[in-house]
Amino acid sequence: MAKVKTNYTCTECGGVTSKWTGQCPACSAWNTLVETVIETGANNRFSNQHQGLAQSAPVLSLADIEAIDVPRFGTGIEEFDRVLGGGLVSGGVVLIGGDPGIGKSTLLLQALANLSKLKKVLYVSGEESGAQIALRAKRLAVDAKELKLQAEIQLEKILGTLAEHKPDVAVIDSIQTMYSDALSSAPGSVAQVRECAAQLTRVAKQSGVTIIMVGHVTKEGALAGPRVLEHIVDTVLYFEGDTHSSFRLVRAIKNRFGAVNELGVFAMTEKGLKGVSNPSALFLSQHDNPVPGSCVIVTQEGTRPLLVEIQALVDSSPLPNARRLSVGLEQNRLAMLLAVMHRHAGVAAYDQDVFINAVGGVKITEPAADLAVLLAIQSSMRSKPLPRGLVVFGEVGLAGEIRPAPRGQERLREAAKLGFSLALIPKSNAPKQKIEGLKVVGVERIDEAINRIREFE
Ligand SMILES: Nc1ncnc2c1ncn2[C@@H]1O[C@H](COP(=O)(O)OP(=O)(O)O)[C@@H](O)[C@H]1O
Ligand SMILES: [Mg+2]
Repeated sequence: MAKVKTNYTCTECGGVTSKWTGQCPACSAWNTLVETVIETGANNRFSNQHQGLAQSAPVLSLADIEAIDVPRFGTGIEEFDRVLGGGLVSGGVVLIGGDPGIGKSTLLLQALANLSKLKKVLYVSGEESGAQIALRAKRLAVDAKELKLQAEIQLEKILGTLAEHKPDVAVIDSIQTMYSDALSSAPGSVAQVRECAAQLTRVAKQSGVTIIMVGHVTKEGALAGPRVLEHIVDTVLYFEGDTHSSFRLVRAIKNRFGAVNELGVFAMTEKGLKGVSNPSALFLSQHDNPVPGSCVIVTQEGTRPLLVEIQALVDSSPLPNARRLSVGLEQNRLAMLLAVMHRHAGVAAYDQDVFINAVGGVKITEPAADLAVLLAIQSSMRSKPLPRGLVVFGEVGLAGEIRPAPRGQERLREAAKLGFSLALIPKSNAPKQKIEGLKVVGVERIDEAINRIREFE
């Protein structure tokens, strides 16, 4: 293949030079020059008509175009299908990002093994050898005899394989390890990642193969490579979760074929990732009888509400400076809540160590957890359990007011579904219609919340 001509374009001003320099000669910005393929009108690689203006795609009325629902096929992994919006789409391109070791390759190997029973699948790995993947398949005990494997990092060869074998689904693990002959920059560079992703997407749209690309993330947690990558592909998924805990969340950030912010919940096991179909009860610990210092909150993760138990322990401190420690919740917020509790409810904790914990290693960042934290602390201080079947949410403000949380109705419905019978929530979140089996108490202030709870003890 003849070398494609390239030049360097500034990402700031669009200025073009033939050689790479540290500073853009046009706008004097530093480190903005990126290698790009020179497009000439005559052999534009992306054009399917060579006659210029002579032929263009016909203009149609929307009414004349048949609205065909995109056919989907499942991956055999329910939680994965859920984030995909119901399954994979022919010709669709999916990008999956996440921290190293979080389980991207594991999930895709499991999905491909399932798919290989019905479809032609190809796994292209630029990171691991065939032997390593075979070893993983053995450990996961997946049936993947029909799975085709290629350890390759050169884009043109991969495109050749796609044309020759015509798989229905292909996985590229990962896009950062691939390089195109057309560019001289190293694999993983902005230009290479963009070029490889664009070429693969073009092939997917032309031939109808579904392509799943794995993408690395930077230290900040964003997908490495150009932002345009997210615009090129149809679906962007992110793996979340702490590598120390066994739970993994897969979240959809963008989806042209389904709802975004859908959440797939998995548990990492010896045999790979197992879907957790009912995650709302995952982060509750099992108590036969209510215990002091425990309060359940309904938090909203994507479109699915999750019930999480917040635990608090308050103990008299032997130290001059009492300790405040929080796991899974914000530390600074804890100090603030203790101050609010003192000023507006008259409960002092300055000589007490306060520890709070969100059960199950889940991280809660939303302020709607405030009320639950306060009630758990209060309950631990008084050594009195909160009422049985109580669920709580609401943000606490510095003036001691209780502010509403988004999607209150959904949270309440989920709590009722799981058998909770009493909800203490911000007054403005109180539902207009009664929710079957759930008594709702709306409160406006923190002292009011503490007093109302005592009625049910
Ligand atoms: N022998 C093993 N037993 C159990 N779990 C393992 C084993 N080897 C790897 N894992 C799990 O698989 C994860 C690696 O997942 P992988 O799919 O390779 O991640 P990624 O492709 O996202 O970098 C590890 O973090 C570990 O939790
Ligand atoms: Mg991997």
